[in-house]
Amino acid sequence: MPLHRGILVFCIFTPLMSTADNSILGLKLPTDPRWVDLASVSLEEILTDHAFCEMKAASQGISLISRYPDKAELVAALAPMITEEWGHFRMVLAEMKKRGYSLGWQRKNHYVNLLAENEPKGTGEDKLLHRLMIFAMIEARSCERFRLLSEKLEEESLRKFYHKFMVSEVGHYRMFIDLAELYYPKDKVREVWKIWLGIEEKVLQQLAPTGDRMH
Ligand SMILES: [Fe+2]
Ligand SMILES: [Fe+2]
Repeated sequence: MPLHRGILVFCIFTPLMSTADNSILGLKLPTDPRWVDLASVSLEEILTDHAFCEMKAASQGISLISRYPDKAELVAALAPMITEEWGHFRMVLAEMKKRGYSLGWQRKNHYVNLLAENEPKGTGEDKLLHRLMIFAMIEARSCERFRLLSEKLEEESLRKFYHKFMVSEVGHYRMFIDLAELYYPKDKVREVWKIWLGIEEKVLQQLAPTGDRMH
């Protein structure tokens, strides 16, 4: 099964309790079940963090194009993704406005920072591969969390709201994996993805669940 099919199945169909180690393709740890309860009682906070995650996803996409303008397929794939991520930012902003919330201030994203700390230093030929793996990982975990919100929140309109994000982010996950497989051998991508799955597991273990963060 290709990587992207695996995560798609994991993200959308696999029950939470069986995600721990059922496949090398899936995330190693399910999100702490307390997280969704915490998020549900701090909706304004979680929406603020979500908005900035979308903004960051757009800006990181722009950075990647700036760094690799010679990679035509990457540019072609990322250009519409950036538009989509910015659209997500606007969707969250509109949801906040509807509820009378203000955007608030951006917070440190400890999850992303800890992942980035594990990126090999230097500018070796695998630099892009690790970048793509980090981006794919963030999309995969976001997808898992959006799924939780889309299933567990009480308000139906919010469940539908988050379902849209879940579907979209799994597409981005797939795109990053596809780009990795375009520029690197598939076996290598699989091997490095497994390394990142292990790193992500350790990162998650360092972070207590908190209702004001998406990750
Ligand atoms: Fe997004
Ligand atoms: Fe995304």
